[in-house]
Amino acid sequence: MQRLTNRQIVLGITGGIAAYKSAELTRLLKGAGADVQVVMTPAATEFITPLTMQALSGNPVHLHLLDPEAEAGMGHIELAKWADLVLIAPASANFMARLNAGQGSDLLSTLCLATEAPIVLAPAMNQAMWRDQQTQTNATSLERKGIQLLGPGTGEQACGDTGPGRMLEPIEIAQQTAALFDRGLLAGKRVFITAGPTREALDPVRYISNHSSGKMGYALAEAAVDAGAKVTLISGPVNLQTPPRCERIMVESAEQMLAASLQHIDECDIFIASAAVADYRPVAVAEHKLKKGNEEIMELRLVKNPDIVATVAAQSNKPFTVGFAAETRDVVSYAQDKLTRKNLDLIIANDVSRSDIGFNSDDNAVTVISHHNVQQLPLCSKRQLAAKLIEIIASNQES
Ligand code: PMT
Repeated sequence: MQRLTNRQIVLGITGGIAAYKSAELTRLLKGAGADVQVVMTPAATEFITPLTMQALSGNPVHLHLLDPEAEAGMGHIELAKWADLVLIAPASANFMARLNAGQGSDLLSTLCLATEAPIVLAPAMNQAMWRDQQTQTNATSLERKGIQLLGPGTGEQACGDTGPGRMLEPIEIAQQTAALFDRGLLAGKRVFITAGPTREALDPVRYISNHSSGKMGYALAEAAVDAGAKVTLISGPVNLQTPPRCERIMVESAEQMLAASLQHIDECDIFIASAAVADYRPVAVAEHKLKKGNEEIMELRLVKNPDIVATVAAQSNKPFTVGFAAETRDVVSYAQDKLTRKNLDLIIANDVSRSDIGFNSDDNAVTVISHHNVQQLPLCSKRQLAAKLIEIIASNQES
């Protein structure tokens, strides 16, 4: 269940006796490292208390669609955007019918309409209700819409009947949920990712750098690990933890980043350069702190840094090489020029003139450019974007 580490899961609970099992499910998801936000329908609160779910999830429980307090904090749209996955367990016959009809009659059904995250249901109901023709039609229709059903299981039911309709056990739901993140698109691949800024020292206490936080590169590292890759993250100085199951090499300068990138380059299948590398560094690093003089203007002499991604792309056994382009105007045409000039296979362009995306933001919107295609990926969190980018990189690398 390692794949659940750092996953953001909305756990929806609808009204049914199996709701008591949601407590154990929450414990298992949390234990596997997931962050869980619980959303309960009014009927669910008749079976298990929000207080129990709050204590187990460690987060406030979301109950109402039109709650001014919640809407000011994490309302239904924020929840819908936050989720990597919406898991509804138990999913009642009534909820499945409403979901299939596209109703937004309560918080849970509304956030299902609003989310772009995958939705997974663990149905739970009486065997006759499950066998009912309309429920079966709803189940088939939901699956056609891409909603995945886990179970239901067959066996003795709370009402005394025996048959299909039992909610799967929490451990089965947790394991199958974890497996959903194991897409294996990059199984067996070695991926190197550069991330964050570089620092180019002027003297022992000063340096030239930029605003890169590393968030984009670290999100890519997580997504590549989730896709089954063995990932080496070559990182400039950032304030982020090493992503789970990822090797991290910390560097300061562009020259160090280049050396770390080339160290095992012959083993690398995919190289992703998301770092914001300083194009120039001071010609000389002063041994001691530079003192303020009498002059009003101080001139710095800079020398060009090596181009890391271009050096990687020039290797005889070149990995599939992906660059980023940080542009403030003519984003696509400048990026296309870099794609050709640096001999890249793919370039991901972001407009860093916008303060809501690019450097140091949680969200990004990019244009993915190959030698024969241009694709826009709209604004979303860097984590969600990273998962999409890894899918695109994997399919381009294969073709
Ligand atoms: O770190 P975050 O705060 O999450 O922000 C993410 C980001 C904006 C830094 C990221 O999305 C991004 O755009 N990274 C590339 C920034 C950049 O330096 O772009 P560039 O257009 O200057 O460089 C083009 C490409 O060449 C990049 O892949 C860069 O890593 C690479 N390069 C540049 C110079 C150099 N000396 N060596 C390089 O490898």
